[in-house]
Amino acid sequence: MRTLNLIPFTELKTERLVLRQLKISDAEDQFVLRSSAEVGKYIARDLQTDVSQSEKFIEDRNEDIAQNKIMYWAITLKGETRLVGTICLWNFTVGNTVAEVGYDLNPEFQKKGIMSEALKAVVSYGFQNLEFSRIEAFTQIENQSSKLLLMKNQFQLHKTRIDEGFPKNIIFELYREDYLLNSL
Ligand SMILES: CC(C)(COP(=O)(O)OP(=O)(O)OC[C@H]1O[C@@H](n2cnc3c(N)ncnc32)[C@H](O)[C@@H]1OP(=O)(O)O)[C@@H](O)C(=O)NCCC(=O)NCCS
Repeated sequence: MRTLNLIPFTELKTERLVLRQLKISDAEDQFVLRSSAEVGKYIARDLQTDVSQSEKFIEDRNEDIAQNKIMYWAITLKGETRLVGTICLWNFTVGNTVAEVGYDLNPEFQKKGIMSEALKAVVSYGFQNLEFSRIEAFTQIENQSSKLLLMKNQFQLHKTRIDEGFPKNIIFELYREDYLLNSL
């Protein structure tokens, strides 16, 4: 099993964004994401009904980071503190060499290229710094925006892999060697 060291937490900066660690004061904004039927439409998870669930969620994710189990960023616009979305690397498998990417964005901030910018930074960090050999994404087949996002960012659909228990999901993969080759 490969040892990952996620502490101290790595903030990522892009042209328009700062990806930083979640804080308890993000609970209201996080709750907007987790209680929205629109955001959760293609995600198999229960909607939150109370902001205290977001507070607990934030505490739990930060504990997971401290235990090197997950990397979870709040997406913010440069110069603003408000959380507009989140992105994570999680579900580390195959001896910590494979990670899954997950993301969601407040609908007010969709269709501006924000997630694409965040994903590029997270993929680069995942391959260059954490040295994962593969990053995967599980997405529902009807989730057009998510599929477009992944395809724009070099992820390839694995046509025969299935997500046991989630028949609507399809699986995209990006291999480190392909990513590095294409970044030359
Ligand atoms: C999946 C999700 C994050 C995609 O968000 P998004 O904003 O569409 O993604 P992007 O950041 O790639 O933005 C792309 C769009 O921004 C537009 N855009 C506007 N300004 C842009 C800019 N400066 N740069 C790039 N794209 C820009 C693009 O044209 C594109 O629009 P199009 O899809 O109509 O062609 C979002 O739909 C979401 O949060 N969904 C709910 C949660 C979810 O389903 N998560 C996935 C679970 S697997």
